[in-house]
Amino acid sequence: MSTFQAPKGTYDLTPPRSATFLAVREAISAPLRDSGYGYIETPGFENVELFARGVGESTDIVTKEMYTLTTKGGDQLALRPEGTASVLRAALEANLHKAGNLPVKLWYSGSYYRYERPQAGRYRHFSQVGAEAIGTEDPALDAELIILADQAYRALGLRQFRILLNSLGDKECRPVYREALQTFLRDLDLDEETRRRIEINPLRVLDDKRADVQKQLTDAPKLRDYLCDACKAYHEEVRALITAAGVVFEDDEKLVRGLDYYTRTTFEFVHDGLGSQSAVGGGGRYDGLSEMIGGPELPSVGWALGVDRTVLALEAEGVELDLPATTSVYAVPLGEEARRVLFGVVTELRRAGIAADFAFGGRGLKGAMKSANRSGARYTLVAGERDLAEGAVQLKDMESGEQSAVPLAEVPAELAKRLG
Ligand code: HAM
Repeated sequence: MSTFQAPKGTYDLTPPRSATFLAVREAISAPLRDSGYGYIETPGFENVELFARGVGESTDIVTKEMYTLTTKGGDQLALRPEGTASVLRAALEANLHKAGNLPVKLWYSGSYYRYERPQAGRYRHFSQVGAEAIGTEDPALDAELIILADQAYRALGLRQFRILLNSLGDKECRPVYREALQTFLRDLDLDEETRRRIEINPLRVLDDKRADVQKQLTDAPKLRDYLCDACKAYHEEVRALITAAGVVFEDDEKLVRGLDYYTRTTFEFVHDGLGSQSAVGGGGRYDGLSEMIGGPELPSVGWALGVDRTVLALEAEGVELDLPATTSVYAVPLGEEARRVLFGVVTELRRAGIAADFAFGGRGLKGAMKSANRSGARYTLVAGERDLAEGAVQLKDMESGEQSAVPLAEVPAELAKRLG
């Protein structure tokens, strides 16, 4: 142990568990890559105004959870709390939307930062894989994203997740609903902070977890009853398309989401084995965000799935991912001369695309074989002075236990053949 520890609310990814994280990132991004999404990477920090305007001045993310800093040059920056605003900013800056090929479909993977109260499944540094489809209003695009996330989770072997779906209306119908809701909420018996929230972001009050608040909300006006015809038709089409794809979802009219940019379709993936931090992913349509950050009208939709919580969900379900062994061949030299020769063989194997590792540090046979076992390698190569004198190495199949002498020059070809 050193004098230092990972900062509060963060943790390190170390082997062997780290391999699961890589596999999860891979599994979430694979269906996106196969569906026309291109990879995008943006900086870990942005101008603080981007998130204030994009995510929303009234959200917890912006008011309480953002890591902000002033640089020595006086710039106001924030560690990114989410990816959507950054990705849209980058797409606009690179004029991707002007290439005449809408929607611009992008995927990303990275670290995000929120100064939250740490608990199981809630960290100050976490990791997401996300997707954004920019510049097109088409219910099939919303459906595509929901179907691809479902496909990713299923490919990982997750079963106990549910998809919650809602429509938040658009700039025509939501303001009417907002006002009706505010009128209703102002008459309730609520604390000061919640009263303030009524004026800034009344929809978030519906999300209040406290029982005494929920009890008063039973007769609150329902957004569903206020959706305009266009929003209703759009939502019905999204529902029909995902139903036709065999994806099961639940209508959840209380689903509000914690970011202000959403319009129309919103959804969340929740896992029932995770306790209070049950949202493994979420997303929705954000038709007005581009204009909010100074861009043209670009209706868009996207999601982000939390890698940390997805790993916790796999663990909760007891799903063991089928992780391929990283090392196929492990070389164990006995003596100085063997060391030089086998190190050369390992280099040659690696150049031939065979994953190989080596017993470094001049350990004895017993310790080295233990490492060979731990590496998961299918084959070991052992060579001592006598083998070298005969121009051969001992090739051992770790599964069957069979061992045979193979001429040195033939080792790469022999292993390539055996490993297929
Ligand atoms: P979000 O719901 O804030 O949405 O985050 C998405 C996912 O990131 C969550 O469902 C959760 O799995 C994970 N996550 C969020 N905060 C934490 C945390 N403190 N610790 C661990 N995991 C966390 C967004 O970020 C939107 N940008 C999604 C989106 C993309 N909407 C449209 N496009």
